[in-house]
Amino acid sequence: MSELQTLLESLYQQYQQHQEGELACYIPELCKANPNWFAISMVTVDGQTFQVGNCEQTFTIQSISKVFAYGMALADHGRDTLLTKVGVEPTGDPFNSLIRLDEDSKRPDNPMINAGAIAITSLIKGNSSTDRLNRLLDMFHRYVGHEVFIDMPVFMSERDTGHRNRAIAHLMLNFGMIDHKIDEALDLYFQQCSVLVNCHDLAVMAATLACKGVNPLTQAQAVDPNYVKDILSVMYTCGMYDFAGEWAYKVGLPAKSGVSGGILAVVPNQAGIAVFSPLLDEYGNSIRGRRVLEALSQKLGLHLFDLSMGGCGLQDAMDSDSPTVIVTP
Ligand code: DON
Repeated sequence: MSELQTLLESLYQQYQQHQEGELACYIPELCKANPNWFAISMVTVDGQTFQVGNCEQTFTIQSISKVFAYGMALADHGRDTLLTKVGVEPTGDPFNSLIRLDEDSKRPDNPMINAGAIAITSLIKGNSSTDRLNRLLDMFHRYVGHEVFIDMPVFMSERDTGHRNRAIAHLMLNFGMIDHKIDEALDLYFQQCSVLVNCHDLAVMAATLACKGVNPLTQAQAVDPNYVKDILSVMYTCGMYDFAGEWAYKVGLPAKSGVSGGILAVVPNQAGIAVFSPLLDEYGNSIRGRRVLEALSQKLGLHLFDLSMGGCGLQDAMDSDSPTVIVTP
């Protein structure tokens, strides 16, 4: 067994015992998740998979979808036009914070908070709402390498209870930050959040971003390579909301979390990593996910600014014949 697989299994054993955190019960369907679900998956840019735990367990992608919708909006409108509609400034605010009412530029701060994400979804091109949904589902298909489906009970649950997101959309409409078709935009946003994935799918999606937008399992070009750096920059600065600074400091990888318990992280030119465990911290990030990614980054020297291993930690751990590179905490 490779050193990397051994490492994933030992992290799984260690963190399985961590039981803190809460399920995302503000969406009633998400409260039905099993708090013991736990999976770690890593997919490399040359298509190898290393994983452990409930990797086939499906769950809804939630806010992780914002990353991929942003990529589609970039392709639909181009960087300069999109920047006039949604900024790229981290807020340090929670994901569901209301918009800043004194916003001069008339744009939400960034595409990862809900205001920005709803605005981005409203900009997805298409001839009808079905066409826009199909374009999004086709895009997810390219990223994961198979057809994806919407979890209807989760979609309906969020649609029925998403009063805060409705309020955000109405405020943005009032301030001229979004087009008038807000019910359509909200439905599409709730649908994109309800796309079903498993932990391995998330790792493939992250690996696709790591591999300049090419899915390493199918070789499909999921997104224009010119936009991958825009997507990764926003993930790095805004992907973990009001925890983004500490995440950048400790883990040092572009990442995105979702309230159903998924987190994905991108190791540029090397791999995608995903963790799934539905118990969340106060920021809406999976607690086991945070801890596993922090440990992996530290042990494999994955932090983008960690120059001590020259970026070779992961490659060496994949090769079981190589000398041990894992550093002890
Ligand atoms: O907008 C919402 O409330 C959800 N559908 C998505 C939130 C989410 O995943 C935030 N991430 N941690």
